[in-house]
Amino acid sequence: MVALGCDHGGYALMQEVKAHLDQRGIEYKDFGTYSTDSVDYPVYAHKVGKAIQDGECELGILICGTGIGISITANKMKGIRAALCENCFCAEKTREHNNANVLAMGGRVVGPELAFKIVDTFLDTPFSGEERHQRRIDMME
Ligand code: RB5
Repeated sequence: MVALGCDHGGYALMQEVKAHLDQRGIEYKDFGTYSTDSVDYPVYAHKVGKAIQDGECELGILICGTGIGISITANKMKGIRAALCENCFCAEKTREHNNANVLAMGGRVVGPELAFKIVDTFLDTPFSGEERHQRRIDMME
């Protein structure tokens, strides 16, 4: 189960991402926001982070205008490793090396086609499990 969260700056792209996940048959829980009305991105970062902390969802996708505010917020939560990705290379490496559990993107930065590829790469790439990467992840907390 993938937890989704966005603010008004990420709302449009999130609707596209949801349609893409539907097409792939990937289950998600949408924690909002549910319109383009102006909202505070930390609210949605916290909802997605909590769903992962509680084990309700394994991975999350967060989108705000730049992806920055929402990822900074998520990264302040214990056990959350949010990676702001604007390309597939980083999406792949952050799963392999950082075991990132949240993908953050900027709805005003990446277009839908690139976002779909970033999402697919993130969701389809497993953590390498290598000792040196796990050691470094353990050092984060
Ligand atoms: C909202 O205007 C914007 O500040 C927000 O979506 C995000 O880009 C913050 O980092």
